[in-house]
Amino acid sequence: MRVERGYFITFEGADGCGKTTQQKLVAKWLDELNIQNILTLEPGDTDLGKNLRQILLHYDKPVANAAEMFLYLADRAQHVKYVIEPALKNKKIILCDRFIDSTLAYQGYARGEDIKEINFLNKIATEGLEPDLTIVFDVDSKTAQERLGQEKDRLESEGMEFHKKVRNGYLEIAKNNPHRIRVVDANRGIEEVFLSTKKIIGELLKL
Ligand code: TMP
Repeated sequence: MRVERGYFITFEGADGCGKTTQQKLVAKWLDELNIQNILTLEPGDTDLGKNLRQILLHYDKPVANAAEMFLYLADRAQHVKYVIEPALKNKKIILCDRFIDSTLAYQGYARGEDIKEINFLNKIATEGLEPDLTIVFDVDSKTAQERLGQEKDRLESEGMEFHKKVRNGYLEIAKNNPHRIRVVDANRGIEEVFLSTKKIIGELLKL
């Protein structure tokens, strides 16, 4: 099967929403259809990004909100230039775990950084590149926390209030970007969620 151009698809949602599992299932499905795809993620898919990810998820001293935001943006700028843009030029389907909406949901809606300013900074980091499609995996915050288990990184260790703000932030972002974002009910089992995911991506790629 041939797909005529590259597509940029992002997987978003609060920690524990199951987006990474869905991303991998989509890659396997596209592989079976012989459609070239790449799996990528933020933060941490480039060499520079791997160092930033280590700091972002495991630095154990206080981090200023703005410092956190700029580190995610730095990772994104590097990722767009050296991974996403080249893959799009090569007509790949890019399956990306987190992108601009994570900064809006976490640093904006949950930490309280200004949304308009994040939109502006995201544009600089991405040179204006937006996903063709974003799927937000929406899950009840309690269920998400239970799925995470005991070993949590710096962001995952934030309290329930923080994660509720992340979830509501995503729903708000989806409402404001209906042309690009679809919300999937991720409270259901993996197979059911995958059926919804497949349908949405199938429509985009005309499969
Ligand atoms: P991951 O666990 O999905 O790999 O994501 C790493 C963590 O980073 C997750 O808790 C969400 C957070 N994050 C932000 O706070 N802002 C961002 O811009 C991105 C990309 C991730």
